[in-house]
Amino acid sequence: MKINGKQFSLILFLCLSLGFRAKAEEGMWLPQLIGALNEGDMQRLGMRMSAQDIYNINRSSLKDAIVSFGGFCTGEMISGEGLLLTNHHCGYGAVQSHSSVENDLLTNGFWAMSREEELPNPDLFVTFIVRIEDVTDRVLGGLSPNLSESLLQDSVSARIPGIVKASTKGTHYGAQIKPFFYGNKYFMFVTETFRDVRLVGAPPSSIGKFGGDTDNWVWPRHTGDFSMFRIYAGPDGKPAKYSKDNVPLQPRHFLPINIGGVNPGDFSLVFGFPGRTQEYLTSYAVDPLVNKINPARIAIRDEKLAIMRADMDASDKVRIQYASKYARVANYWKKWIGENRGLKITEAIEKKRRGEEKFTKWVEADAERKRKYGNLLSKIEGVYDLQNPVRLPSEYMREAVYGSELMTLAYRASRVAKEKHGTKSYEKAVASAKSYAKRVFKNYNLPTDKKLFARLMEIYARDIPADIQPELLKQAQAKYKGDLTAWMKKIYKKTALTDLASFEKALEKPSKLAKDPAVVVHNAFREKYESSVLPVLRKTGNELDLLMRTYVSALMEMSPDRKFYPDANSTMRVSYGIIDGAEPEDGVLYTHQTYLEGIVRKNETGNPDFEMPAKLRELYEKKDYGRWAHKGKMPVCFLASNHTTGGNSGSPIIDASGNLIGLNFDRTWQSTMSDVNYDARICRNIGMDARYLLFIIDKYAGATHLINEMKIVSVTYEPSAETEKVAQEEATLD
Ligand code: ARG
Ligand code: ASP
Repeated sequence: MKINGKQFSLILFLCLSLGFRAKAEEGMWLPQLIGALNEGDMQRLGMRMSAQDIYNINRSSLKDAIVSFGGFCTGEMISGEGLLLTNHHCGYGAVQSHSSVENDLLTNGFWAMSREEELPNPDLFVTFIVRIEDVTDRVLGGLSPNLSESLLQDSVSARIPGIVKASTKGTHYGAQIKPFFYGNKYFMFVTETFRDVRLVGAPPSSIGKFGGDTDNWVWPRHTGDFSMFRIYAGPDGKPAKYSKDNVPLQPRHFLPINIGGVNPGDFSLVFGFPGRTQEYLTSYAVDPLVNKINPARIAIRDEKLAIMRADMDASDKVRIQYASKYARVANYWKKWIGENRGLKITEAIEKKRRGEEKFTKWVEADAERKRKYGNLLSKIEGVYDLQNPVRLPSEYMREAVYGSELMTLAYRASRVAKEKHGTKSYEKAVASAKSYAKRVFKNYNLPTDKKLFARLMEIYARDIPADIQPELLKQAQAKYKGDLTAWMKKIYKKTALTDLASFEKALEKPSKLAKDPAVVVHNAFREKYESSVLPVLRKTGNELDLLMRTYVSALMEMSPDRKFYPDANSTMRVSYGIIDGAEPEDGVLYTHQTYLEGIVRKNETGNPDFEMPAKLRELYEKKDYGRWAHKGKMPVCFLASNHTTGGNSGSPIIDASGNLIGLNFDRTWQSTMSDVNYDARICRNIGMDARYLLFIIDKYAGATHLINEMKIVSVTYEPSAETEKVAQEEATLD
């Protein structure tokens, strides 16, 4: 077979890039340990900063520009006057709360043209990290190694408040202590939280959510997924409750924005608060995840989505009411489908098994190790054998039992029903139930909820072993001869939990509330769960904590030169990599960048997820891109090889010298497995290009005053020998 030049470059590209891409870019690193662990690697990949520029407690550093946004996303400071950037889907709740039918900010977008127009958000807060300390000795010091896991956990929990108190005394700081590597280490995060956070700007959903569920977790991507807020402080610069007298925060650091553009091979760093990963799971855990748990979750959500979709298609009102709920259910439904597919394609279970074989060989080679770790893996397997039977019931509790609003309301009601009328704890439970119910009934359609309840109960009755079914469900099955719709009708007819007024009224009589049929059904499930499922989960969970702690520390002993990173646990992390396309699966190549043309092409498909604002089309037709274009084209999104997960949304993507080049918001479909099995050849995070961000603010919204308070720079980077190769080979693909 003869190979022509182009084919040769393609092969070369694949060889080089796979080799290059296989480099260790995996990991979510603790910022204070970068100097010890990663600095050299990062500089080899092109970073021009030192570890001290990233994290420093004596002078300002990158970390001072990064916040946890509301505890569920990340945000970053982009001006000296408290301007904060995060994702559209992170600011969504805030934008929604200021929206009404007459003034629909979600649809139209919102831009505060002056500080006075910025909108306060009473429930929103942002948290900076002041410093991070290793407190392992203080948490574990002096505890006997022979303590049972539950006694150990009790001692740890008892010690933590004292350490927090001593570390924050006399300051307005808070602190959090969390376990790392399954409790081999404990770190404390000293925090500063601001609660006056005002909405500054958000593009219309047709930009901020462009692509909707169709494009969610997908490349090529064209979403302008951003919104902006401003942090206000008291006149003394310290956190303060909302007040007209508050002033914009002057952060210790903010990120300049680099419009020099991104090139394949450029260094990239993501700074943020990733939520949860489980990279050290054994095959005994990954196997049931792939073969039982994920398929069950997906199947239950298939049903929920079908029920919601049918009602949404039939009514505009329901479509709007359920849009956000639907998106929430669809998000992880789609993620799990991708995750399972990826775990299979990369043979993750096999890979885990091979790792375990290697571990076993290492253990067997030494008598002392044999004594310490000889039966570790079989013990882990044994605990999963005990745990597996309750895993599905536990998923079904979350996904099916609590899949109807009726049952989530009944949960709140059951908390109230437990209390004595008039007591403080009663008032507290009522307040929380009311605020929850207000949110639910704002977007509630009774017929949809009824269908959800009946179908999800049927699924529970069909799939969960009889001994984990509440008697009441079995009786209903018998009484209605398997027709749970008839059962549902009776419950919905009698319960007070189907509209706000009667719900609130029912809260006034806690003893009567306990007899509400929805509360009775809820409690029957809850009791069964608490007697048959929870104790097993707790016991096996404790045992696994201990075994996994030992396993991870044994892995560290086995590979003293390997650098280990702790699983994500919503604490501050740095991940680094390069701007890079991917060959995620057979026959598929992703280039690193998308452009505005792609939005026009998607818009032409007629899919309503690809609506395009007229003004954006006009700017496109006139090529009116201002100084934000690249060679006459408008860049929109790009790919990089940073290890990210849920919670990294809104994280800045930072260049070699500390400037913002993009805004992280998603991963590709093939990357969704990275929470369990990161594969450097395949996994890519998706960011919105900083140039598209500025173009939308400037040309689309005309909010130039915001651009004026930012620091814009234009830097491009000399490719290193390695990055040069990737760049050249990508160019041959055009
Ligand atoms: N998949 C992204 C992340 O987990 C974005 C989700 C929001 N977008 C959506 N179409 N549902 O959270
Ligand atoms: N979209 C995710 C988030 O909201 C990010 C991810 O899972 O990659 O945090």
